[in-house]
Amino acid sequence: MTAAALTPSRAKSARKAATPAGMIPVVRRPDFGFNADVAQWWWDNDPLKTLLLAALSSSFPPGERFFIDSVRHYQPQITDPELQKAIRGFIGQEAHHSREHEALNGFLQNRGINLARLEKEIAGFMNLLRKLSPERQLAHTVAVEHFTALMAEEFLLKYDVLDKMDPRMAPIWAWHAIEESEHKAVAFDVYKAIGGSEFTRVTEMMAVSVLFPLFTSIHVYQLMKEAGEHRNWRSWAKGIDFMWGRPGVFRKLLPSYFKFYAPNFHPWDHDARALVEKAKKKWLGGLA
Ligand SMILES: [Fe+2]
Ligand SMILES: [Fe+2]
Repeated sequence: MTAAALTPSRAKSARKAATPAGMIPVVRRPDFGFNADVAQWWWDNDPLKTLLLAALSSSFPPGERFFIDSVRHYQPQITDPELQKAIRGFIGQEAHHSREHEALNGFLQNRGINLARLEKEIAGFMNLLRKLSPERQLAHTVAVEHFTALMAEEFLLKYDVLDKMDPRMAPIWAWHAIEESEHKAVAFDVYKAIGGSEFTRVTEMMAVSVLFPLFTSIHVYQLMKEAGEHRNWRSWAKGIDFMWGRPGVFRKLLPSYFKFYAPNFHPWDHDARALVEKAKKKWLGGLA
């Protein structure tokens, strides 16, 4: 099915793209075990890269609880049955991400990476955000979901990131990336359906664009220091080159990031289904 085949209810706006018909997030229920033999630096044998993913993982349980609540708040107002189904899929997927990342975070904690402290800090920050208006809370979710879709489609699934990971650690990241791509427009479609303002959507993205990289950078530095790796210049240089030099994964996703600010933006302007299908076959096996 092409992006041009749209349900009438989710495609009736004048936007140039919309969520494809039948794009209901599938709730899979994997149970990843984490093997004690996994190398300390399980992504590319590199501390910086591994601790970047560890820092991101610590943010998922409190972050995803917030995303679910911000969408659930508006669930009773949604009359489109397909969007209702998509919301249930979104909530199911995010709830399972939290559960599996809690397990991963516990596994890493036992190996001396203090993610419990980061998780507590992030939970405190999310509680501050809960004081904002429900519309702005949903706009926050919409903005972060754009980040997670970019990370999934234009970082984890696009390059050989997963191939360079310990094969016992790659499946959880593949699964999470696939599902972030599948449900990337749910919060956005709810935001549009409730008449969320463009000003709030754009200004919230500006705030997220400062805070998310800032917190992540601070947390990665703290983890590097706690691991005694903060003077590992080779790892810093290699990681920064990977992100901003060659291949420059973050540099290359900037054009997609900026599309969010266009008045007619829709997350499905970028259709990554071919990439996701390939990743499902390779990494999800029976779960796909
Ligand atoms: Fe998620
Ligand atoms: Fe998500």
